[in-house]
Amino acid sequence: MRGMGARYQALRGTRDILPEEVGVWHRLEAATHEVFARYGFREVRTPIFEATELFARSVGSSTDIVRKEMYTFQSGDESVTLRPENTAPVVRAFVEHALHRTIAAGYPERLYYLGPMFRHERPQKGRQRQFHQIGAEVLGAAEPLADAETIEMVWSLLGALGIDDRELQLNTVGDAVCRPRYREALTRWLAPKLPAMCDDCKRRAVENPLRVFDCKVEADRKMLEEAPTLAQSLCDPCAAHFAAVRQTLDAFAIPYVVDERLVRGLDYYQRTVFEVVARGLGAQNALLGGGRYDGLVEELGGPAIPGFGFAAGMERLVLVMNKAAGDARGSDLLIVALGEAGFKGAIGLARSLRAKGLRVALPLTERPLGAQMKRAERLGARFALFVGANELAAGRFGLKDLSSGVQFEVDEAGIGPAVTTGGNGHGR
Ligand code: HAM
Repeated sequence: MRGMGARYQALRGTRDILPEEVGVWHRLEAATHEVFARYGFREVRTPIFEATELFARSVGSSTDIVRKEMYTFQSGDESVTLRPENTAPVVRAFVEHALHRTIAAGYPERLYYLGPMFRHERPQKGRQRQFHQIGAEVLGAAEPLADAETIEMVWSLLGALGIDDRELQLNTVGDAVCRPRYREALTRWLAPKLPAMCDDCKRRAVENPLRVFDCKVEADRKMLEEAPTLAQSLCDPCAAHFAAVRQTLDAFAIPYVVDERLVRGLDYYQRTVFEVVARGLGAQNALLGGGRYDGLVEELGGPAIPGFGFAAGMERLVLVMNKAAGDARGSDLLIVALGEAGFKGAIGLARSLRAKGLRVALPLTERPLGAQMKRAERLGARFALFVGANELAAGRFGLKDLSSGVQFEVDEAGIGPAVTTGGNGHGR
């Protein structure tokens, strides 16, 4: 068919996930639901767009995300933004629905989500403008055990996905007591170096000096290697919290490295921050990142309730997942209809087999036998079921196991059991 119409392509930084690939996504989603439920997390689904102000207040107006990456538009007299991340929306929902009423000491609210996020970044491998995250948020637990347990959960999810080539990086960014002290020390250190640094760093030094560590200019990064670290200015409670998180991870036998330069690109973090990177991903090697954000719930109008969470990029997980185990299930069987009577009878038979839960493929028009057999192969069907006038009259059908080539006869009731046991009643 030829048309005169215009042709369109998915926009830069967006991708279609085609049926061949979607099986891996299903497996990732199923593993997430399964593993997170074991840790007491419940799913929450929030809107794709929110008030722009929500992200400016939480992620931070001096961050790259808010300054240059948000899809923001005017809707009536409201400024609206496609969510660039989902911690702020989840906290917004937590406050709006007063979910804190149900939490008790030692029993925080544990929420998780899956879905698309939007950031106007330069696309490259593992970096898109519409991408997907799996994330989890623990609200109402100040204990270091909450940090360690949540990290353990995502660590075991990675294990379940066959992602073994991974490194957990851990740091602390202090709190409202020690961070201002560090900020001062860093500002003092930066002052003489700023004239040689990039314009972004000059601006960051004034707005939010810790953001200089987001700098991507090689010369600046090199210089920053000498900068004082927060570890040197940590207050006692922050130091104790970090030590307890590390001890618990040790007890869980989860390996990590402490990276004193890890600051994360969002402003809401306090104390623990972490990332998991994977080799084989190239420059965008962060599979996931997160940390503690005590103070954010209050900042967004709620009570003083601590928080901890992380988010993982689903595209990046899919890139490194063990694809071999991807569940790209095709049809259980393809009905090969023989002649007009067979084709007519096949329609009813397909309906009743589908009602029993079988995945049945049926041509929508009469086709030659050879074409139907080829199609069975392409669809990855495990069985071919031959349906002609004689078969319908006798109530017995030929069922061919397409992997072994063995064919046998079954009546209608026997089709389901034969397909689920994988052969002539003998299993495989
Ligand atoms: P984030 O580090 O900005 O944190 O994003 C988390 C993960 O999302 C990254 O490690 C990466 O795998 C993936 N990701 C981010 N941007 C892109 C992109 N443009 N294309 C593909 N993947 C991407 C957060 O979003 C925080 N909300 C995490 C969090 C939850 N912290 C506490 N709770």
